[in-house]
Amino acid sequence: MAAAEEPKLIVVADAEALAQAAAQRVMARIAANPGRIAICLTGGSSPKKLYELLGSAPWRGKLPWDRVHWFIGDERFVLDSDPLNNMTVARATFLDHNAPAGHIHPIPTAVENPEAGAEAYARELQAFYGSESLDPARPLFDLVLMGAGPDGHTASLFPGYPAVEETARWVVGVPKANVAPFVPRVSLTLPALASCREMLFEIAGHDKRPILTRLLNGENLPALRARSEGETVWLVDRAALPEGIRGGR
Ligand code: 6PG
Repeated sequence: MAAAEEPKLIVVADAEALAQAAAQRVMARIAANPGRIAICLTGGSSPKKLYELLGSAPWRGKLPWDRVHWFIGDERFVLDSDPLNNMTVARATFLDHNAPAGHIHPIPTAVENPEAGAEAYARELQAFYGSESLDPARPLFDLVLMGAGPDGHTASLFPGYPAVEETARWVVGVPKANVAPFVPRVSLTLPALASCREMLFEIAGHDKRPILTRLLNGENLPALRARSEGETVWLVDRAALPEGIRGGR
């Protein structure tokens, strides 16, 4: 298999511009596929502005809701009534009242343990995809949204954890988180996340500068190892950029 391409760095002015640029990329991916579309969402605070945009005019009216399916790349193992639940945030921010209920695919958390949630979600993804093995010629997702945590994690793939090395399973249970919130997680694995036409990281704000510096220095952290088999894009705002490459200031 060909090595995944290096991420493409796109720098925008601020968090507002970043959400606009991300929304444009979402629409471009949708426009590129006239059939059924699969988008894998992410948790954390980074995608909130994008979700708000997609749920409001003019974006909301442009989205072909009846053709788009929404998945989530990782979930905190809390019930969907808990505001920490990633899909609950996405639903409340833009999916409910817009997406058909059957097109929203949460990771089940009202199950015995994270591993059971992972197995159930892998089955759901495989049923949607129509196979238990991923074909690089036919990506699972059109678009995978991602964020980078302060320790270099992405989805719930924390540095040094066995979940990062998983090559066979699509989804795994993560018994303990490395950063807050300290609840068990369920996460898609690197190969499942890689099976997409585009992986789009949103990295904004001054707080992200230390981790972005480490990633740009090539540290072998999960957020750097997460690559699409298609295109990987890091959308970054000026506040997150390391001093040396901020340019013109
Ligand atoms: C989660 C996320 C996680 C997130 C990063 C960045 O469940 O917490 O999916 O991987 O993307 O931690 O989080 P922020 O956007 O809040 O900085």
